Amino acid sequence: MSSVVVAGSFNVDHVWRCDALPAPGATIAGRYSTGPGGKGFNQAVAAQRAGAQTSFVCALGADAGGDLARQLAAADGIALVAEASDEPTGTAGIYVDGRGRNSIVIGAGANASLSTDFVTANAALISGAKVLLAQLESPVETIEATLAQAREAGVLTMLNAAPANAPSTISLLKLADVLTPNETEFAALLGRHVGERIEADDVATLDGASLHALCRKLSGNTVVVTLGAVGVFVSHDEDKLRSDSQPYYRVAAESVQVVDTTGAGDAFNGALAASLAQAPEASFIKHVRFANQYAARSTESEGAALSMPKMTPADA
Ligand code: RIB
Ligand code: NA
Repeated sequence: MSSVVVAGSFNVDHVWRCDALPAPGATIAGRYSTGPGGKGFNQAVAAQRAGAQTSFVCALGADAGGDLARQLAAADGIALVAEASDEPTGTAGIYVDGRGRNSIVIGAGANASLSTDFVTANAALISGAKVLLAQLESPVETIEATLAQAREAGVLTMLNAAPANAPSTISLLKLADVLTPNETEFAALLGRHVGERIEADDVATLDGASLHALCRKLSGNTVVVTLGAVGVFVSHDEDKLRSDSQPYYRVAAESVQVVDTTGAGDAFNGALAASLAQAPEASFIKHVRFANQYAARSTESEGAALSMPKMTPADA
């Protein structure tokens, strides 16, 4: 039985490291590498390495990328449940600058064919989990059905609403017990679903009460807004507070020597899911502190999935 099930994307990441991100029309030199990624897979690797037995539900092409996913999942002990797609395995082109910041272009490929039928066929796997974690690099109908299925089975649902430009619905957001946008995704969701216009850069500057009020407009459950180098903001529904005494709070970022932030949000999400699955009775802030530490560690090395540290809540 898996304690965390991640449903989502696998990509082969093609990465160029350069001093500065290329401007339109520019040709620049960079150092190339390739490795596994995709928000879904990165989060699954993080959850597994953070100590939770993890299954990864995805769609793969019949190609070298698909083989890579299978081989890496097996090496980490992740149970891979893959729908066979006629499309090529997903890809991402990533530029990382000298400060560890990135720009990403995704070729969804097989990820776009992850079907509701396939998820439904794996209902028993999902019902048996403690936590179901999904993102938005797969078809929105499939993600909505997956969250609904998990909810119905009493499994804790987490939605990382990434990337920011992915389609979503307010009903989808409400299916998540824990919604985890970053500041860009948070601003996008507010604009799209509740008509609140706010710049992503301004999110971290808002006071706690204002941020909490905005979170409440998106969800009747817990919202965790990741704010990069600033840390994390947590907002709970006041009627559902349990061991957490505060309806909202900030957790400061860890100070680290950043090499590459690619997958830092994925590290946070996978680690949070793993922590929630392993100690459901612990106070929420403890889970967030662990996920925060875990994500910080992931930025100290290059790459996405392969930069996930082996670190469990017990080691933190
Ligand atoms: O979140 C980082 C990931 O986004 C990369 O691994 C890339 O594949 C894209 O999905
Ligand atoms: Na990294």
